[in-house]
Amino acid sequence: MEITATTHDQQWLEVTFTGGTTGRFYCQWLRDNIPSGRHQDRGQRTFDINALPEATLTTITHTTNEVTVTFGPDDCIDTFTAAWLHQHLNPAPARVTPAPTLWDANQQAKLTFADYPTLLVDPAAKLGWLREVHDYGFGLLENVPTKPETILEVVNLFGYVRDTNYGPLFEVRIEPNPANLAFTNRGIGMHTDNPYRDPVPGLQLLHCLVNESDGGQSQLVDGFAVAEKIRQHHADAFKLLTTWPVRFRYRDDTADLQAARPLIELDSRGEVIGLRYNSRSAQTFNLPPEVMAEYYRAYRTLGELLHQPEAKIEFRLSPGQLMIFDNQRVLHGRSAYTEGARHLQGCYADKDALHSLIRVLEETS
Ligand code: OGA
Ligand code: ZN
Repeated sequence: MEITATTHDQQWLEVTFTGGTTGRFYCQWLRDNIPSGRHQDRGQRTFDINALPEATLTTITHTTNEVTVTFGPDDCIDTFTAAWLHQHLNPAPARVTPAPTLWDANQQAKLTFADYPTLLVDPAAKLGWLREVHDYGFGLLENVPTKPETILEVVNLFGYVRDTNYGPLFEVRIEPNPANLAFTNRGIGMHTDNPYRDPVPGLQLLHCLVNESDGGQSQLVDGFAVAEKIRQHHADAFKLLTTWPVRFRYRDDTADLQAARPLIELDSRGEVIGLRYNSRSAQTFNLPPEVMAEYYRAYRTLGELLHQPEAKIEFRLSPGQLMIFDNQRVLHGRSAYTEGARHLQGCYADKDALHSLIRVLEETS
């Protein structure tokens, strides 16, 4: 990409590139981004905006490959490459990860379990699987040793265990005095875990050690796909679900965890960034009477769509199989089972390390 012409006034630099594309660059933005203002090793900016004078453009010269700018009022001079300027022609998208690939029950036919021992030794295979976890919001593994606590090693594939008051891992099996319906043989509706935390765990892993029961099928649904359906077909419901906060709570002898957020959370540009949905830990809705009826209609719409057969995938985890899912996007549930032994171990992790490793592996492979 080469520069063919430049023009400027005190505020704006206009650069024309080969092919005729032009870009406009603002004086203070240029000053804020001078290459010499970056630390050489890690590229960190070495100054704060309040240390800068309000820059103007005084002199501009260019070659085909770069533009040299003299700034007023302090005569600071620096040079910007054509490639860098061209790269910054358009406002950068807000996303720092690729857009998710939304899915529904048709995903069932495409389910594959990656071979855990292969991922441990083959960076390309690992990258492929990690990308899938990001794109679809879940991933499946097989041939994970059924030795208890192996799940804590599986997390090392991409990141770190998120320790909580439940400890580094939790057991999912029938317990005599269950603190949670998950520790009975009852079915559990689609849900996200721990909506009472702030932030909620970004990833959940469930590793099957024993499964001799009838039933106990694992179910997943793409909450982002459901949220987009609601946005499209039930605009009023979408508005309510994305604005009114719902309180979630977990209480035991030593913990009182609470968070209050809309069931569907949006970023500042309106993109869905997370769902909180868990009928077990949702507290009584505190809504004004004039909103209540409509909110319940919206809540019911969300609940129905999350449990629709057309939206869900369902599979049975066998010993040595493991699923990981984005706990802010993909809701999970399980069908009831008879009292044959069933034992899963679960743990949480954060998503940032997963995204980081994908970028690093993409750059090095
Ligand atoms: C849980 C849970 C699913 C299962 O423990 O949070 O959802 O398959 N368990 O038992
Ligand atoms: Zn759960």
